[in-house]
Amino acid sequence: MPEIVRVADSRELAVRACELMRECIDQAIAARGVARVALSGGSTPGAAYRLLGQSGLDAERCRWFFVDERCVPLDSERSNYRAAKRDLFDALPVAHVFRMQGEAGAEAGARHYTELLAREVPRFDLIVAGIGDDGHTASLFPGTGAVREPAPVVAVEPAGGLEPRISLGRSTLLAARRIVILVTGAAKQPALAQALTAGDEDAVPARIYLEAESATLLADEAALTPR
Ligand code: 6PG
Repeated sequence: MPEIVRVADSRELAVRACELMRECIDQAIAARGVARVALSGGSTPGAAYRLLGQSGLDAERCRWFFVDERCVPLDSERSNYRAAKRDLFDALPVAHVFRMQGEAGAEAGARHYTELLAREVPRFDLIVAGIGDDGHTASLFPGTGAVREPAPVVAVEPAGGLEPRISLGRSTLLAARRIVILVTGAAKQPALAQALTAGDEDAVPARIYLEAESATLLADEAALTPR
């Protein structure tokens, strides 16, 4: 069960998320010389990434990876890499970035990232995750079976007209030293309540964090309060 940290609103969430990320990154650098961090896309983490970019972290020792990517061209508004570049990498003096190749397609992109992780990442120091209002996390979407796949990286075909995705698999997510899950807004409340209750993981993939060793859920009042 994740530790739950309740914050007032998305503004406070960004500040606390930045502090938590800095703590993990600094600890990893002190212990192992580098910090390996996997970033989620979506709209929630952008403000925290912007604060992190201005926080004076030791960028030379950070290695940035991705939790998931949409299979879109690199210059698409929907590219998670593009968003992270805008919100974080561009503010750093140097950024060692290992991106998922969404433009190559889900299968080829998942193969490429599997090889890359085998070379570069014994274990993530920090995963920054989100939860969708349908209960997905990373790009493990409900009803696709992706959450059950044991592979380190999976190719996912979500329903509902969404583009194919590349996603870290559950084994990679759950092996991280620390997972920080960011959730805001009333629209997420039902999915978040389900994610915190044991049950069918394919129905609510964010339930995987119930078995995480060290996960912190940072959520605002709106996301935690039933209406
Ligand atoms: C993505 C994400 C995804 C995200 C959730 C929450 O590429 O879409 O990585 O897993 O974390 O969908 O998204 P929001 O922050 O936009 O609500």
